Amino acid sequence: MGLTVVGIGGSMRADSQSERALNVVLQGARLAGAQTLAITGADLVLPFYDPAVPARSEVAHRLVHALRRADGVVLVSPGYHGTVSGLVKNALDYVEDLRADSRPYLDGRAVGCVAMALGWQAAVTTLSALRSIVHALHGWPTPLGAALNSTEVSFDDHGVPSDPAVERTLRTIGQQVVQFAQEHSAGAQCEDTGHARTPRRG
Ligand SMILES: Cc1cc2nc3c(=O)[nH]c(=O)nc-3n(C[C@H](O)[C@H](O)[C@H](O)COP(=O)(O)O)c2cc1C
Repeated sequence: MGLTVVGIGGSMRADSQSERALNVVLQGARLAGAQTLAITGADLVLPFYDPAVPARSEVAHRLVHALRRADGVVLVSPGYHGTVSGLVKNALDYVEDLRADSRPYLDGRAVGCVAMALGWQAAVTTLSALRSIVHALHGWPTPLGAALNSTEVSFDDHGVPSDPAVERTLRTIGQQVVQFAQEHSAGAQCEDTGHARTPRRG
């Protein structure tokens, strides 16, 4: 079965620029051979995560189920007051439901991170916050991440960024998520069969 990359992010705004950025990363993942699933907008509107309450809304179930099965993840947040938006952070709090899984949290998954804000300062601090969250969730931030400044780049109604370099960067992040998933899955199969992996050159 093919690999699945789950993307989470964007804002509640109808023309959310960060959601469009997420879609470009997911395009990159598809070009690298993965199936993708975007969880955005109303699908991120969840009750505040309460570890003491086991009941979950249908929307929360879908999110947790998708993340449990994901081979790779993409997180995109607008910068709100210098950090990850409450909408995205509350969704990420639900990863706690994966704590007792055989692959706890985001263990073994590469996570591409992108932040978008109205200036460089919040774009950079938000990207850094996302990567810290990924570390806490046992995930593997991709080598390439992106801090986008919406005074310098915008996405049109078709989701195409005004700067082709941004498109290349976002697609590369998607490709890196898939590449990690492919290598991780190949490594797991070698362990199953007892074969050593071929060492990589360079
Ligand atoms: C509540 C709120 C807080 C924000 N805080 C910041 C901020 O601290 N720094 C910044 O550069 N932009 C800030 N912004 C602007 C957003 O980060 C920026 O417009 C972003 O691109 C919006 O993404 P969206 O189009 O997906 O909604 C804020 C916007 C909102 C609504």
